[in-house]
Amino acid sequence: MVPEPYRIKMVEPITLASREQRYAILADARYNLFQVPAEMVFIDLLTDSGTGAMSSQQWAAMMTGDESYAGAKSFYEFRNAVEQIFGFPMVLPAHQGRGAERVFFSSLLKKGQIIPSNAHFDTTRANIEALGGIAVDLPADCANDPSRHCSFKGNMDTDRLSEMLETSADRIPFVMLTITNNRCAGQPVSMGNVRRISELCKQYGKPLYIDAARHAENSFFIQRRDPKYVGATIQEISLEFFSYSDGMLMSAKKDGLCNIGGLIALRDQEIYNCLKDTLILTEGFTTYGGLAGRDLAAMAVGLREATSEEYLEHRTAQVEFLGRELQDRGIPIYTPLGGHAVYVDADRFFSDPKRPFPGQSLVTSLYLEGGIRSCDLGSTMFGENDSPESREGIHMELIRLAIPRRTYTESHLRYVANIFEQLKEMKDRIPYLRCTYRAKFLGHFTAQFETTPVPATVLNA
Ligand code: F0G
Repeated sequence: MVPEPYRIKMVEPITLASREQRYAILADARYNLFQVPAEMVFIDLLTDSGTGAMSSQQWAAMMTGDESYAGAKSFYEFRNAVEQIFGFPMVLPAHQGRGAERVFFSSLLKKGQIIPSNAHFDTTRANIEALGGIAVDLPADCANDPSRHCSFKGNMDTDRLSEMLETSADRIPFVMLTITNNRCAGQPVSMGNVRRISELCKQYGKPLYIDAARHAENSFFIQRRDPKYVGATIQEISLEFFSYSDGMLMSAKKDGLCNIGGLIALRDQEIYNCLKDTLILTEGFTTYGGLAGRDLAAMAVGLREATSEEYLEHRTAQVEFLGRELQDRGIPIYTPLGGHAVYVDADRFFSDPKRPFPGQSLVTSLYLEGGIRSCDLGSTMFGENDSPESREGIHMELIRLAIPRRTYTESHLRYVANIFEQLKEMKDRIPYLRCTYRAKFLGHFTAQFETTPVPATVLNA
């Protein structure tokens, strides 16, 4: 594997709780991994959001963070970084991605309006729906096939976007595009796709906004998979990509390499003015947006570090490594591998069409057998959506093994693959789950389950 482009200066001990402890904790948590104390987790692959290691440069920047209420030096450093990387002259900081989403949607979205996207991730969809909007996913044809080989499975289906704009333009205030496509296995979006989306948006007079949480990984895939961009730098690719859009929202907890932070960046002064008033009302003044000055300073450095080719090469190689280790052990995964995580196909893993919540069954047994925490991205996370328009889209029972940035080593990842091998041997004995509680929005965070025995008919089949 590609060697780590860093050395380790500080360590954080982790311990594996006993199987008996894990069993009791799981029952206490009602089989929901979000309810398990982190201290009781050995390898935490729940998310790559805010869970990575900051660099010595970022920690150094934190020490010189300017905590002034207005006009802090750290804000201007942050603004310069955003302008250089993305090309947007105006930026509003926010405490994290969903803080930016709340400000953005509550200012620009009206009840009953439709927001098309390649695929909205959970908080984006929930923020739209909480305001009475309709979040519609228009994934590419190949997205729902975990084994079909296409280079850019994160793309939007532009034929369907075109149809939608033709029939419902008056209900669409703007279009969104998520890079990489977290809902769809961290798959990248191609330059050709964003260019075509932008043309359609211009034709119908609609702005295009990018959910850029993992934009650097997306640019890296363009460089590696699109022959036209072989010699281009990540910086050049990013600038071109964002030039096709009117603005972006970003959780800096991913490709900002920070533990907290988010932003909205724009070109249009009028939109900026409209958002800034909401920001001041809910997040904070325009030069800090709910963050400490030191967080802005760390973000300014992290945003630049995330576009380093060396960093991205190692990052994607870690995902490849875990993916290959799992495939070698016969575990069905989503391919090609995407940016920040390996997604395991829970449906194919169990090959038991009667099993409810196959993803949740798999994540709970992965914790029980190995102290590994992961996350369902199937019926537990997304459940049933209310509106007929939003019922199309992505239908896979995947679980996500998200790899925190600069945190785990090759041996940690091999351990994860070995636990999967054990699970494969005992998969038919893994109990079924029944959902006993689910909140209306973002239900997976607090959902509760109980175990029920595998039906005899399935066991004897
Ligand atoms: N957009 C995308 C594509 C995301 O993946 C996330 C968060 C957000 C927006 C919201 O950002 O967490 O800073 O409020 N995704 C996390 C995850 C939580 O685990 O993938 P946030």
